[in-house]
Amino acid sequence: MMSGNQSLCTKFTFVAFSSLAELQIVLFIVFLIMYLFTVGGNLIIICLIWVTPSLHTPMYFFLVNLSFLEMCYITSVMPQTLVHLLVGTKTISVGACAAQMYVFAILGLTECCLLAAMAYDRFIAICYPLHYTLRISPSVCSKLAAASWIIGMVVESAQTTWIFSLPFRGTGKIDHFFCDIMPVVKLSCVDTSHLEIVFFFFSVVFLIIPCIFILCSYVLILVTIFRIPSAAGRHKAFSTCSSHILVVSLFYGTALFTYIQPKNSHTPDTDKATALMYTVITPALNPVIYTSRNKEVKEAFHWVTHRSSHRQMA
Ligand SMILES: *[C@@H]1O[C@H](CO)[C@@H](O)[C@H](O)[C@H]1NC(C)=O
Repeated sequence: MMSGNQSLCTKFTFVAFSSLAELQIVLFIVFLIMYLFTVGGNLIIICLIWVTPSLHTPMYFFLVNLSFLEMCYITSVMPQTLVHLLVGTKTISVGACAAQMYVFAILGLTECCLLAAMAYDRFIAICYPLHYTLRISPSVCSKLAAASWIIGMVVESAQTTWIFSLPFRGTGKIDHFFCDIMPVVKLSCVDTSHLEIVFFFFSVVFLIIPCIFILCSYVLILVTIFRIPSAAGRHKAFSTCSSHILVVSLFYGTALFTYIQPKNSHTPDTDKATALMYTVITPALNPVIYTSRNKEVKEAFHWVTHRSSHRQMA
């Protein structure tokens, strides 16, 4: 343990954008627009699926859950970041920091599992279409979704509790814009190299296993799709999973880059840039991907907007 004369931190200070002092108001506006866009876009997806009876299927049940999760996810980070871009003293109490990390980490892992459940749904739908209604019943769907939430909560509560049982001493300066896992671990005054190995193991188990599962599902899906004799049939099968492939690649691309890269290649700036990717860009892109690439969602969107414009005219 380091020098005993430093007292324990009761609060942390964010110094993420302090070198960009004159740009803070610009960042505030950009982040605010991104935040409203993400919440609005995901809300539109949820409402669209709710009001469209033809979208009351397992795939869209998972999509509602995913959109809801993305909204919570960005809300666990953005309001705090926005406030800190406006005020002079960018401090957060250790308790609030822990609360933020609990929510953020739980939602992150739940998303990994939910994406794996969605891949399983597509796998059965395309590779075993005759068993689909039997294997993916509404009760199986809600069990898979519930399991994702439970895994996220149990694993990440344990991890966060453990991180916040470490002693934090000294200035408590976080070179990041919210209480992300690695920047907070680095603040601890104990030697964290053994902890980082444990986190590496955690990441491997809980990121790589769903990731391998998703990859295998998609390899089997693609093999099945290429065996479909007609081009129209191939196109139709592919269109039901292409948006999911895009969302998965975005999410896992940034997550793997962040948590499973060699330690010495981390710099605070690349960490901040990747954190922006997975906290802001990915949640914002999900609704864009689903409304622009998915035919059924597009049709529902046209149907709803068309119907309401008819109503206005009447
Ligand atoms: C997501 O799934 C869980 C577990 O089945 C369910 O309890 C929850 O209501 C769902 N959330 C939404 C917004 O559909």
